[in-house]
Amino acid sequence: MGEGVLSRAAGQRGSGAGTSALLEDAGLTRDAATLLLGGAPLTEIANQVGTPVFVYNAESIRSRYRSLDRALAPLPHRICFAVKANGNLAVLRILQELGAGADIVSVGEMHRALAAGFTPDQIVFSGVGKTADELLSAAKAGIGHLNVESLEELELLGRITEREGLSVQVGIRVNPDVTTDTHPYISTGKSGMKFGVPTDQVLPAAEYILRHPRLELTTLAMHLGSQIVDTEPFIQGIGRLRELAQRLRLRGVTSLRVLDIGGGLGIRYAEERSIEPAQFGAAVVPHLAATGLMVYLEPGRFLVGSAGLLLTRVLYRKHSGGKEFVVVDAGMNDLVRPSHYQAYHEIIELEERGRPANRVDVVGPVCETGDFLALDRMLPGLEAGDGLAVLGAGAYGFVMASNYNSRPRPPEVIVDSGKWWVARPRERIEDLFDSERSDSGISE
Ligand code: LLP
Repeated sequence: MGEGVLSRAAGQRGSGAGTSALLEDAGLTRDAATLLLGGAPLTEIANQVGTPVFVYNAESIRSRYRSLDRALAPLPHRICFAVKANGNLAVLRILQELGAGADIVSVGEMHRALAAGFTPDQIVFSGVGKTADELLSAAKAGIGHLNVESLEELELLGRITEREGLSVQVGIRVNPDVTTDTHPYISTGKSGMKFGVPTDQVLPAAEYILRHPRLELTTLAMHLGSQIVDTEPFIQGIGRLRELAQRLRLRGVTSLRVLDIGGGLGIRYAEERSIEPAQFGAAVVPHLAATGLMVYLEPGRFLVGSAGLLLTRVLYRKHSGGKEFVVVDAGMNDLVRPSHYQAYHEIIELEERGRPANRVDVVGPVCETGDFLALDRMLPGLEAGDGLAVLGAGAYGFVMASNYNSRPRPPEVIVDSGKWWVARPRERIEDLFDSERSDSGISE
């Protein structure tokens, strides 16, 4: 089971103090008892904006990007941020300004990326179930390349581009059949999973593209999974892509320019290992350099995961059935990872009060027993009104939030060099059902 996601499943210990590495990854410090993110006092943000609220540290995102960029410096490369991890426009702009590209999986994400200032040629489009409308919109927008994931999708793209007279650069997303030690829900590069074109169908796909007047095969792509903390799967996957590139060249394909090795670099959620960019670069660069191709990486979590927190407040304490519960105002609708993947997220106090620790379940207000942020966690004695920070919430946090139980989604705040602002306000109660008021949708 994946070290990064499940080995310290939502339950299990944790001092609540936060390890120094976790605090450093986020850009968290303490000024006496008060927790600061990127120099901004989090209690002030929680008081002024209210809780729950997501807060992202711009400087931490920048430093993660730069470290990865340095690690790949020996190669021509582009780091395409996986918009699915965090689509907030302010976050996208931070990365766009640094020179990143964007990796998208829907037309919604395409419009977000364009709105944030990415140019179409800096965008790559992956996804196992793109609709005809999405393929057409992407072709019309002129996005950089489209990673196809099946022969049927490729043929549909072929018909659309021919009918519309549009030319498209195509990547074949290969399923390289590589095992990754991560949560089964987020492992994607193994044979038998829904993602990518199986290796034995890559040559027929390439031949279709070669024959097609409007399609050009520029890219071989893969994405192995998420929260990967080893370099070995990447090396194996790159090896498979290299073999395929060689076979394609022998078949007369001269248009390959890019090797897209996907995302998946893991972060520290607890004391576990994470991939260090320098170590990642040292491991993969020699294998990639030999191809002579430009390298694309599609990291999501690595760039933004540690940089984001979810702030929440204790509503009640209760003792029931021999257990201690801390009921907070953030639920599974705000951060679904603990309940969906049994993921561990460190929880620390906004104001350290030095109370003795005890073992508690930190649960939300949603009407499901699976609504929790932490189980069986050693945390300092907490009381109603105390503010808490849930770490590692910058990736797959707000983007997976829902309105379940008719709860408005939380606001998103950016902290940059000690200053902070609301990048997206809290949803209003009216937002929840305004579009349902009209009866224009009623069929006769
Ligand atoms: N590229 C493709 C084609 C992907 O499918 C993904 C993520 C990425 C890049 C970025 O992966 P990352 O670098 O963030 O690991 N909701 C889950 C994670 C789902 C990841 C899906 N694909 C979670 O909360 O752990």
